[in-house]
Amino acid sequence: MDHKYFLREVVSRWDDHSQLDRLPGECDWNFKVSGGATGILKIMHEDCDRARVETQIAMLNHLAQVDNLPTPDVIPSLNGNNIECVETEGTKRLAWMISLLPGQTLASAAPIGLSLIRDIGLSLGRLHIALKDFSHPGLERTFKWDLTAADWFEPFVPKIQDPARIATVSRIFAAYKSSHQSFLKSLPRQAIHNDLNDHNILVTFGADGNSRVSGLIDFGDILYGPVLADVAIAGAYLILNCDDTVERLAAFLDGYQSVHPLTEKEIDAVWPLALTRLAASVTNAAVMKQEKPDDPYVVVTEGAAWQLLDHLDAFDESVIRLRLRQTRQEEAKARFAVVTAFLNQAKGDYPQVLGRDLKDAIPLDFSPSQSDVPSDPFRVSAAEMTLRVDEKIPPDGTGLGKYAEPRLIYTEPQFFRDTTRHSDRRTVHLGTDVFAPASTGVFVPLDGTVVFADWQAGELEYGGLVILEHQIPDSVVTFQTLYGHLSKRSVSDLAIGQSIRAGSEFAKLGEVDENGGWPPHLHLQVGIGMDGISNWPGVVFPEEVEMWKRVFPNPAALLNLDDDFICHSSPSTDNILKRRRNVTGPNLKTSYRDPIQMVRGWKQYLFDEQGRCYLDAYNNVPHVGHCHPDVVQAVSKQGALLSTNTRYLNEGLATYAEALVARVPDGLDTCFFVNSGSEANDLAVRLARQFTKAQDVLVSASGYHGITQTCIDISHYKFSGPGGGGQKEWVHVADVPDTYRGKHRGAGAGTAYVDDLKLKLDDLTARGRRLACFISEPFPSVGGQIVPPADYLAGVYKHVRNSGALTIADEVQTGLGRLGRYPWGFSHQEVVPDIVVLGKPIGNGYPIGVVITRREIAAAFATGMEFFSTFGGSTVACAAGLAVLAVLEKEQLADNAERVGAHILRGLKRLQASHPVIGDVRGVGLFLGVELTCPDDTPATEAAAYIVNRLRDHRILIGSDGPDNNVLKIRPPLCFSEDDATALLRTLEIILGEIPLKQLAESNNTV
Ligand SMILES: Cc1ncc(COP(=O)(O)O)c(C=O)c1O
Repeated sequence: MDHKYFLREVVSRWDDHSQLDRLPGECDWNFKVSGGATGILKIMHEDCDRARVETQIAMLNHLAQVDNLPTPDVIPSLNGNNIECVETEGTKRLAWMISLLPGQTLASAAPIGLSLIRDIGLSLGRLHIALKDFSHPGLERTFKWDLTAADWFEPFVPKIQDPARIATVSRIFAAYKSSHQSFLKSLPRQAIHNDLNDHNILVTFGADGNSRVSGLIDFGDILYGPVLADVAIAGAYLILNCDDTVERLAAFLDGYQSVHPLTEKEIDAVWPLALTRLAASVTNAAVMKQEKPDDPYVVVTEGAAWQLLDHLDAFDESVIRLRLRQTRQEEAKARFAVVTAFLNQAKGDYPQVLGRDLKDAIPLDFSPSQSDVPSDPFRVSAAEMTLRVDEKIPPDGTGLGKYAEPRLIYTEPQFFRDTTRHSDRRTVHLGTDVFAPASTGVFVPLDGTVVFADWQAGELEYGGLVILEHQIPDSVVTFQTLYGHLSKRSVSDLAIGQSIRAGSEFAKLGEVDENGGWPPHLHLQVGIGMDGISNWPGVVFPEEVEMWKRVFPNPAALLNLDDDFICHSSPSTDNILKRRRNVTGPNLKTSYRDPIQMVRGWKQYLFDEQGRCYLDAYNNVPHVGHCHPDVVQAVSKQGALLSTNTRYLNEGLATYAEALVARVPDGLDTCFFVNSGSEANDLAVRLARQFTKAQDVLVSASGYHGITQTCIDISHYKFSGPGGGGQKEWVHVADVPDTYRGKHRGAGAGTAYVDDLKLKLDDLTARGRRLACFISEPFPSVGGQIVPPADYLAGVYKHVRNSGALTIADEVQTGLGRLGRYPWGFSHQEVVPDIVVLGKPIGNGYPIGVVITRREIAAAFATGMEFFSTFGGSTVACAAGLAVLAVLEKEQLADNAERVGAHILRGLKRLQASHPVIGDVRGVGLFLGVELTCPDDTPATEAAAYIVNRLRDHRILIGSDGPDNNVLKIRPPLCFSEDDATALLRTLEIILGEIPLKQLAESNNTV
């Protein structure tokens, strides 16, 4: 009997007309059946025991009774049998069919967010509840994947060969054997899945982009075991291939315990047992690689498991235990309530910790919205801190640093999740700081026992550190207090186990050179349930603050202060949004579906109120970098000296105008100063009209020039867009020279666009219209980050000038080095305009607009009416402008734009080759666009919105543009580095692989 014939024979037991597609699988054959019957046909390997299949069928039939549990149903054959036995050439194989569930395996799903992980926990919890009353003799089995017998693998560990890895796995098995195995065996048993790995969980992505569990499959490893084994096994696979390992495990346990609580002892065993499962898996892979070298399934998890096991040093088991315990939320809340109630009872009566009343202590605020410490948010110096503290507090005074305060002073690598600067970073301080002179005595506020006393050497460390334990009378609950930055002597004088009476002086504040280099202060933190843990997280990720506050409550009561007095508070983003909406017009928009509250900037990075860092790949106004110190200094210095207008003489204006004129081609020799790009464009049109005595303006389609009435009238993007008032009779529109989606494409497109424009001019002349000027962005930006064909503007300018009109280049987006080796957009096009308009980037955030033109044009404008702009060309504006030019030179930023822009362009082209949604990649220097298209070549607008918002989730800022909003716009501050570019490309690549994006790109529907 040949193979095909055999399969037909099998499937005919269910339906004759079905079609079969083989699915990947280890030893059994699985086929997707469609056409007639639909489902998964499972043909077991030759020596498969019938009882094993019967057990699975019984379990699935049991589970089928439970509403909404996403497990497959068993589909009986046409004969009414659950199992068919089919004979081929003397061997018998068992076949059975189950229903097909929607979705894809978790292993192939992306993105995997914490809400999905929580749903997986919930699904497993529900499965366990459903299986509680299921029993079957087939579940009583001896099996190598039984986690209560994982020591089965231990003799095979030497097969791993690598000595370091053998040591890691041996350590895990040793811990397992010495405690976790016996604990696991002591737990009650029930039916469990026993193999809920990422290939056995199916996931769907809904129309809202959210993912959820749609299937729990493959019940081949079921047995009687403790539910904890199932939890540890599922957990083991969830923590692979991710950088939020502990958060994932916590989310999984959160979901699980929302329906099926675990004990604290069980929670404590999850991490070591998950590691045990991974140790078993890699040991098994080492054995199987020798036995079946060509079988890819035997090593399917190996790489990812080693990735974690090889880096176990990065995990502090005690902190993980502490974190996972918080998933027993009710318990954690109850303990918190007991401790805080106890602490508050004696508030006001505690002996003063530094022997002085703190009610008049000077509050210090190091939050990112209030403090520029550290001036470089990636490098703190203790000296800078000392300086700032000394500025605020008199020599013998006392200061208070706040609890729950986000700070950017934690700049060491251990605070960052990865090596990128915009990485997740622990910023929120969960103790309080009491600043006072070195050697000030530290007094115990309540009776305690020393459980830890050590001196931590090194810059930015704690120096002397002591932890005391306190017992709440008539309760089993204990809590601890931690004192950091003590003198070295203080800790050497203390013995572990020593009791200290309330009010006794047990330590002194350390000197700067023995407390990690910090200004002298006490770090005081209260901890709940910290028994045996000396490595307290004093600073945590903003996303986890609320949870950690239950572990590290506000210590105010111990200082005889009210909680609010030392607790950081700042308005929430929602609150600000609401207030802003109440007092501003409804068309004042915010970026992103989830708006961001920005409070600080530094070079190409921005920080929100929690100190979360965003990589800015999009804002072009901070041309040389947000808050560049040289520009900030120039502005504040000039602001302190004099801020006034052009009616008084000041050298700054002459110097600045000379510097600008030196940067544009000869002939462009006269400057006008205003405050914005809009005003500059408005003025440019006035100049042209005055010079030509004509009125009409030729503009480029999709162009944008500003917000004044004239600018709206000449901005096709505005007057023809939503709410626009339509085209004025004096405005004429030429096509934007888009060679990808526009009317003319490929070679010769430039000439074709020029010819079209010439026809338009001829038509205007024929209709008796007189043109004053042609205004365009040499590189249309709102039009979709367009790079015009090389011969475009030269042809256009020639015909425009022949018609008697002037040419205006709106360089608000492109000037001053953004285009790398081309100083201006018009230089790329090898033309010289009659009027150049500059804006946004030239002031790096300070509002400046400049018009540069020829003397004869300026002369014609001098009709007798004075030209005066109150703030244009002010002393401070000129200082800002000059500082920007100086930084551009000093830091060679045009060269950087050229180099980094080329790096991004290459990376984008590489992504384009493997992602069909990328239709076009274009750009010059750091003016870049990525046009997204659907398979039918229509603009992929929703895909662009998805990418922009997902990049924002990864804290990378870009925008989208183009008439169809399907062009990703990348135009960062010019200091954007190659590392930033690599991070941007890497993240973009991850997002391009996400399922919702693929669904969107295919349908162009909203998720
Ligand atoms: C090309 C171009 N011109 C002019 C303006 C207007 O500048 P401002 O907003 O400073 O008035 C903009 C602003 O986005 C612009 O992109």
